[in-house]
Amino acid sequence: MPFEPLEDPDTFRAASRGRWEEAAGGWAAARAAFQADTAPVSHWLVDAIIPQPGHTVLELAAGPGDTGLLAAELLRPGGKLISTDGAIAMVEVARARAAELGLEDVVETKPMEVEWIDLPTATIDAVLCRWGYMLVPDPETALRETRRVLKPGGRVAFAVWAAAEHNPWMTGRRLVELGFTEPPPPGTPGPFSLADPDLVLELLYGAGWTDDIVIEPLDFTFHAPSTDAWWALQLDCSISLKELVAGLSPADHYKLRDAVDADLAAFADAEGRLRIPARTLVASATA
Ligand SMILES: C[S@@+](CC[C@H](N)C(=O)[O-])C[C@H]1O[C@@H](n2cnc3c(N)ncnc32)[C@H](O)[C@@H]1O
Repeated sequence: MPFEPLEDPDTFRAASRGRWEEAAGGWAAARAAFQADTAPVSHWLVDAIIPQPGHTVLELAAGPGDTGLLAAELLRPGGKLISTDGAIAMVEVARARAAELGLEDVVETKPMEVEWIDLPTATIDAVLCRWGYMLVPDPETALRETRRVLKPGGRVAFAVWAAAEHNPWMTGRRLVELGFTEPPPPGTPGPFSLADPDLVLELLYGAGWTDDIVIEPLDFTFHAPSTDAWWALQLDCSISLKELVAGLSPADHYKLRDAVDADLAAFADAEGRLRIPARTLVASATA
């Protein structure tokens, strides 16, 4: 078992879903800027599935939906994107974005869990999942489910964050370093739980994937007008960070902000605008 099971995965799932429901408003507000910065990742993933007219593409943990929506235009005529997320409020954000782009004819949106893909076996041509598999208690099952719904020869392309040291934008880790919260037990789902490419490979093998496996790092840059703006964005988009920060005393809150500001100062220009490095792993395989 390459991934340690959680003691109570259902409690984790319910709490996680609740937080993502609550975060959907923040993700909707940040969508355009986030997508502008993360577009290289979307493009890598969409290129890797080689979308064709007539294909049915499934996006898992789609959030605001941008990666799948990029592929959707390429599925006309006759194809379909099924854009899904575990949080109903996120599905609504993706549905609204699809409408804004005039893609309703080619996009279906619905709630769906990454670990229980509610679709028949061998009916999907390709699956996209950007920053989703590392958030679930049983990523091997999620990858097995992904393979089950794909037609033989179908493709999966996904992204998971690389190690924390390559992602200084994730300021919340300072809470642990300053001793304000315990580090999560090993195996706990989270942004960096699949940061080791060997673990990703092991999970893929365990889930039955053997063909055309590619796992590689991809670097890009987050931009923000100021440190305050970046911190506010982190709080709006991560309810767990918001909850932890809300529980700090004023003195500890200042300590945290000083540490975060010091970290981010390394990425500021003379006007205080930030360019923060980010690294993801991108992966693809054939069913
Ligand atoms: C980090 S966001 C990524 C959103 C989007 N894929 C992107 O790249 O912008 C993670 C998304 O995964 C969804 N999610 C988390 N756990 C999930 C689960 N078990 N099943 C389905 N979706 C889940 C969240 O609701 C959220 O929209």
